[in-house]
Amino acid sequence: MIQSFLNRKKSPIQQRCLTDDFTRLRNRYEIWYNVAEKQRGTRVTVEGKELVMLASNEYLGLYDHPKVVEAGNKALKEWGTGTMGARSANGGRRFHIELEEKLADFLGKEACHVSSAGYLSCMSSITGFAQRGDVVLVDKNMHSSVWDGIRLSMAEVERFSHNRPEHLKTLIHELDPKAAKIIAIEGIYSMEGHICDLPKFVEIAEENDGFLIMDDAHGLGVLGNQGRGTADHFDLVDRVDIITGSLSKSLGSTGGFVAGDRAAIDYLRTHSKQVIFSAALSPCQAAAAQAALQVMQEEPEWLERLWSNTHRYKAFLKDLGLDTWESETPAIPIIIGDREKAYYFWKRLKEKGVFAIFATAPGVPPGKDLVRTAISARHDDADFDIIEDAIRYAAEKL
Ligand SMILES: Cc1ncc(COP(=O)(O)O)c(C=O)c1O
Repeated sequence: MIQSFLNRKKSPIQQRCLTDDFTRLRNRYEIWYNVAEKQRGTRVTVEGKELVMLASNEYLGLYDHPKVVEAGNKALKEWGTGTMGARSANGGRRFHIELEEKLADFLGKEACHVSSAGYLSCMSSITGFAQRGDVVLVDKNMHSSVWDGIRLSMAEVERFSHNRPEHLKTLIHELDPKAAKIIAIEGIYSMEGHICDLPKFVEIAEENDGFLIMDDAHGLGVLGNQGRGTADHFDLVDRVDIITGSLSKSLGSTGGFVAGDRAAIDYLRTHSKQVIFSAALSPCQAAAAQAALQVMQEEPEWLERLWSNTHRYKAFLKDLGLDTWESETPAIPIIIGDREKAYYFWKRLKEKGVFAIFATAPGVPPGKDLVRTAISARHDDADFDIIEDAIRYAAEKL
């Protein structure tokens, strides 16, 4: 039996799995797919050692807020674990509508659709609107959910340089004026921490009859009045056609949303396969996100703390002379620029009690090997002592 297994000819796919360079690289650096045994506040325990989490996207620190946890528990008791079906079939429930109405209202849009993952929502924000013959003009550093959406939509694609409206302008002027054009940007770019140049993108979209889609997964909860996001920050909510994003960052849950005019959301519900054929957001996820949304409005101190922590942390990194890719937000990369050095930087942080994320090409542009860090409103003085000591140590050894 064992012999026959060993002798079995391997299929091309099995060969590929056994010889893949990226998988080897991942296994070699042993740093992805970490498993924490415990988490509480800003601390996680990995391999028996408590670390300060410096890489989470839950900027406001609401994932274990008593009101958020209570809402999740209550929903679980009332509704059970899930609805076992897509919204288009048997899966729609009152709590979805409640969350959608509250989110739409918060974002300043007429309507909203929530899904079980931010990835699905962001993907559907493209597949729901783009079709063969259209052109999607996309920032080259866009999240992979949007790239997948573009591929599935069968639309043409044009990439413009990261956060460079002038390049978008050049590209758009070369297109057939009659082609339907979609422009896809992020509010805050997750790896770089850059805020998009929204006023210029809006202007170009309007001058060229473009449909502007913004993935604001990292802007929601971070920018704008009470954390309403990047469009609100620039006072341009009415001029962005679609705001999509995730419930798994500041909203301390899991899931995603697409918000826009009612006609656009109705159209999305008819045309996006990710919306039509995927099971609905669970009661617990929806209730947790809704409670977090309320906390954001009732407890402004979390947003204030997020920004004071961010300024404190950035001043510290600047003093050390570290390159933070001109990040303007709580998502702060430390650019090392060399894979091996970035790996050891990451490893030394861990050794000194800090959990960060190592990112290398192709996940980041060549020469931008980095350690991604992110600040939370929950980091306190004790966390900062550990963070600063660890970063100083890793930087000295560079
Ligand atoms: C910019 C951006 N869009 C979409 C997503 C997908 O969201 P989720 O992880 O909730 O599926 C992410 C998550 O990393 C993201 O950073």
